[in-house]
Amino acid sequence: MAEMAQAGSSAETPEVGIDVAKRLALFPVTTRLRPGPGGERLQIAGCDLDNLAEQYGTPLYLYDQATLDANLETYQQALSRAYPGPWGVTYAGKAFLCVALAQWVQRRGLWMDCTGTGELAIALAAGAQREQILAHGVNKSAADLISELTAAGTIVVDSLVELDRLTRMIARTDGPVPDLWLRLRPGLAVDTHSHTQTGHEDSKFGMGEAEALEAIRLCRLHNLPLTGIHFHQGSQFRDPTPIGPALEKALDLVVELRGKGDWLPQVLCPGGGWGVPYHEDDLPFPSIDRYIEFVAQRLADGCLRRDLPLPRLQLEPGRSLVAQAGVAVYRVGYVKYTAHQRWVLLDGGLADNPRPALYGSRYTALPVRAPQRPSAGPAWLAGPYCESGDILIQGLHFPEVEAGELVAVPMSGAYQLSMASNYNGACKPAVVWLRDGNSHLVQRREEPEDLLRRDVALAEV
Ligand code: LLP
Repeated sequence: MAEMAQAGSSAETPEVGIDVAKRLALFPVTTRLRPGPGGERLQIAGCDLDNLAEQYGTPLYLYDQATLDANLETYQQALSRAYPGPWGVTYAGKAFLCVALAQWVQRRGLWMDCTGTGELAIALAAGAQREQILAHGVNKSAADLISELTAAGTIVVDSLVELDRLTRMIARTDGPVPDLWLRLRPGLAVDTHSHTQTGHEDSKFGMGEAEALEAIRLCRLHNLPLTGIHFHQGSQFRDPTPIGPALEKALDLVVELRGKGDWLPQVLCPGGGWGVPYHEDDLPFPSIDRYIEFVAQRLADGCLRRDLPLPRLQLEPGRSLVAQAGVAVYRVGYVKYTAHQRWVLLDGGLADNPRPALYGSRYTALPVRAPQRPSAGPAWLAGPYCESGDILIQGLHFPEVEAGELVAVPMSGAYQLSMASNYNGACKPAVVWLRDGNSHLVQRREEPEDLLRRDVALAEV
């Protein structure tokens, strides 16, 4: 339950130094300290963070392509080592999607999980091919289903009601029909914050066993291309153990069907959800290899024991591919002291990163200039928004910083911008892609005019 950890008040927090090496380990793989006149400075992909902040403004989100590639390679190598059958990787677009990231996904040959028409539009704008697009969602709207039938290669069916709607729509179309997978609700969640558990018995997602059996019967009856079984037990977990019994349940279902006919899933997808360390106290974090070995071995053994052919193992990570690639850069407005706390007030927070407020996520940070400075005691890093819950990091050991300095927050690539809001009329930050010493603006900063674009004034009030 790493997400739940909270720092205590300054009075309770022991006076310890900052383990800068451990904090740096959470930054992108290309992060370096560049010596300079006023002390060392943080650099990512050969770009100085202070120059980037000057050029693009703050708050600023940076994505390092080398880290995306490194994380993907870890997945691909572990899968090819650990799983004797065919395999694939789907990027869960809900973690973060913009056209540039979707282009990266597309060019690397990954599949793309899109939830809803909006994410689908981004994937298509990036040139994603039909067979790469997989549509997810609970309570998909009619508009979602229509666009997914047209553009997606696979639709993951969440319920019998949805299957019925899809069956009618498919009967009326003469275009190609996407493959269908069934989303199971295995009745077992992973150990994580309750807001991000999805596999438990009373989860709103997916189908129980009886519904799934009925769905399979209906697909066969209507001759629909049912090719896969999917489940996702939750996100930001570090112990893969609950995936074992969920896989067993899925394979038992297949065996039960074998007795009644000859349907076999070509694909089995145990979702995504592998976690990341957000804070140095989360280190050492178990490796992606360990997670993949566990899943691959359980699936291969389970199939062997039941005399089933190996399905394609499709993993669906979001966060563990993109979180480490992303860094949020803020500028300190000023420092304020209250009865017991030192407040480092930043120009972003809750609006671009609601995760601390929503899940109690505990982040860490370093100043961009001279990050090796000693701790001046615990600090409360907070944003400018009108809510006391707008605290990015509570009680973090942090150096003395001045107004105007820059602060970098690592592990900011997942579920921050994709859940960002316009609270207090906040404009969403710019996103800059870093590669080989070059920076590319891939999403411009929102302007107040963007906030006004949807509004229609009344003729009279
Ligand atoms: N597949 C399905 C069906 C999912 O629902 C999700 C995440 C994933 C894959 C990818 O999970 P990941 O590998 O990214 O953990 N807003 C929360 C996370 C919600 C996750 C929703 N589903 C957070 O900020 O932690």
